[in-house]
Amino acid sequence: MDPLFCFFATLLFVGIQGCPEVCRCKALKKYGRHIADCSYKDLEAVPLGLPSNATTLTLSVNRIPSLGEDAFADVPNLQALWLSYNEIAVISRGTFAFLIHLRAIDLRHNQIVDFPWGDLSNLTALQQLKLSSNRLEKVPWNAFQNLKDLRSLWLDNNHLVVLFEGTFDSMPWLSQLQIHHNPLNCSCKSWWLKKWLENTSVSISEKESITCGTPEHLKGFILGRSLKLDCMMPSVQLIYHSSLGNSVLHDGLTLFLHCSAVGKPPPEIRWTIQTSSQTLAINGPNVEADGRGVKKSGRFLVFKNGSMVIANFNKADEGLYTCQALNDVGSREVSVNVALASSESPDDRLQNDIQASKPKANSCDKEHPRPEGKVVFIYLNPRAPKASSNRGTLWDPWLWVSSFLVSLLYFL
Ligand SMILES: *[C@@H]1O[C@H](CO)[C@@H](O)[C@H](O)[C@H]1NC(C)=O
Ligand SMILES: *[C@@H]1O[C@H](CO)[C@@H](O)[C@H](O)[C@H]1NC(C)=O
Ligand SMILES: *[C@@H]1O[C@H](CO)[C@@H](O)[C@H](O)[C@H]1NC(C)=O
Ligand SMILES: *[C@@H]1O[C@H](CO)[C@@H](O)[C@H](O)[C@H]1NC(C)=O
Ligand SMILES: *[C@@H]1O[C@H](CO)[C@@H](O)[C@H](O)[C@H]1NC(C)=O
Repeated sequence: MDPLFCFFATLLFVGIQGCPEVCRCKALKKYGRHIADCSYKDLEAVPLGLPSNATTLTLSVNRIPSLGEDAFADVPNLQALWLSYNEIAVISRGTFAFLIHLRAIDLRHNQIVDFPWGDLSNLTALQQLKLSSNRLEKVPWNAFQNLKDLRSLWLDNNHLVVLFEGTFDSMPWLSQLQIHHNPLNCSCKSWWLKKWLENTSVSISEKESITCGTPEHLKGFILGRSLKLDCMMPSVQLIYHSSLGNSVLHDGLTLFLHCSAVGKPPPEIRWTIQTSSQTLAINGPNVEADGRGVKKSGRFLVFKNGSMVIANFNKADEGLYTCQALNDVGSREVSVNVALASSESPDDRLQNDIQASKPKANSCDKEHPRPEGKVVFIYLNPRAPKASSNRGTLWDPWLWVSSFLVSLLYFL
């Protein structure tokens, strides 16, 4: 046969039928489905020339090792994509992102380590996601955030060590979840999962195979009711007082804030300071107990025991002081609003601060829980004394202390 003829014949064949030779394409007119079935073909790549109106593409049981960004560029109308039992290890970012009609993806029994989780944010019609029997090590906490329609999520038989709290909260229709056979780290990071599994109405398969992989002494234990995890959400309290700066009276006041936090494991303490001119985050102590080792943020001394000391507290330091306590279970925070009231017009000062510290609208934002109670801490600052020769007698500290007006206002 004339090779040229063959060439055109092939072109025509592809053009009219819109189906690669290795696949079988058929239309189920009644259901508006166009199926391209390319399974069991030893394929090493997604075939070219798939019919653009295909709604179901079956590529199961082949030997496809990877999926490139435009693997499915020919078939933007896909609603179902079957890819189980291949050798897929690598999936480029963007491979699925434009398949916005997808309702089901089956990628079971592949070798996926990195899934392009970001692609999922576009797949709002997805109802079924099967990723069982791969090598997934982690799932971002917000991976499923846009999958409001997802009903079935299979993540079993992977290498997942940890699942983050809230991972499954964004899917109101989720009815079936598989997470068994993963080597979970039964530290306090998995405490929420244990509680959630006990209480959720989602149907969980093979609960007795949801077990610990680490730590060693819990290996093989079921993450169920009988497993004792000694964990506690942090609770946190702010205690504060102010006093005069040592003997150098015109240096003003020293503010002591003490963040007292308990939890299991013992929580780490982080401070955030929001003044009118800056927001400063201090994660952990910045000064040794003996006062040495002051780092850059040395104006705000943070000790290991949870205390913060601000010497020579002045107007510029006014603002919101937040202490956050966090451990593997979760985190809590508490804030105090610190303001200096001038002795000239204490009333103005007071009013302004009450307004500034009101909780913002009735926001029910779960992601950013409001501080437990805001405290406005106001004291009357005596006029800055001028350096004088006889200050020892003139500026008796007790006189100062008695002139404090301390006002605590709690907002819930
Ligand atoms: C849709 O696909 C089928 C095969 O699955 C094909 O026969 C048909 O011609 C296609 N229709 C359109 C409008 O492309
Ligand atoms: C996500 O979907 C929107 C349309 O809903 C589309 O415009 C956008 O290109 C998609 N993102 C990607 C990466 O394809
Ligand atoms: C398990 O979690 C604990 C506590 O967070 C951590 O110290 C440990 O390294 C983790 N183990 C593994 C295998 O990830
Ligand atoms: C568990 O469910 C019960 C009732 O279904 C509810 O009262 C309880 O608050 C739930 N516990 C947690 C920790 O969600
Ligand atoms: C914390 O440690 C600092 C420095 O050792 C000390 O000045 C402070 O009083 C301590 N705070 C409490 C509440 O014990």
